[in-house]
Amino acid sequence: MNTEELLSKAAKALENSYSPYSNFKVGAALLSKRGKVYTGCNIENASFGATNCAERTAFFKAISEGERQFEAIAITAVNKDGKEEAAAPCGICRQVMAEFCGPDFRIVLKQNGEIKVYTLSQLLPNAFNIKQI
Ligand code: THU
Repeated sequence: MNTEELLSKAAKALENSYSPYSNFKVGAALLSKRGKVYTGCNIENASFGATNCAERTAFFKAISEGERQFEAIAITAVNKDGKEEAAAPCGICRQVMAEFCGPDFRIVLKQNGEIKVYTLSQLLPNAFNIKQI
């Protein structure tokens, strides 16, 4: 699966975003090493802290179905004005990625109309993970 296909699955997933508070819709598509894609959207809550990001929705769906190895995640977002926005994953989502993914795990974003691919080690250097415990 190429990065554009993964991004388009993320864009489709954001249609299910539940975001009445921010009106910021986020979609994610997570590619497992065996080639399966798990999508996710952000799910907000009146108690704001209970909000779940699109990336973690995708990870938790995958983990709960037995997946443990991942290649890449694509993330797209649309802001309240309907503009496509680059959404870099938040710190909590980066930490969840570090639980299950190595430093070469790829994070695919569309920034200013351009596809950008980062590694997890670029977005979360010196991560705290299972090896430190
Ligand atoms: N959000 C995500 O889904 N992923 C991110 O990495 C950044 C933030 C969501 C959470 C909330 O529903 C909305 O975007 C505004 O913060």
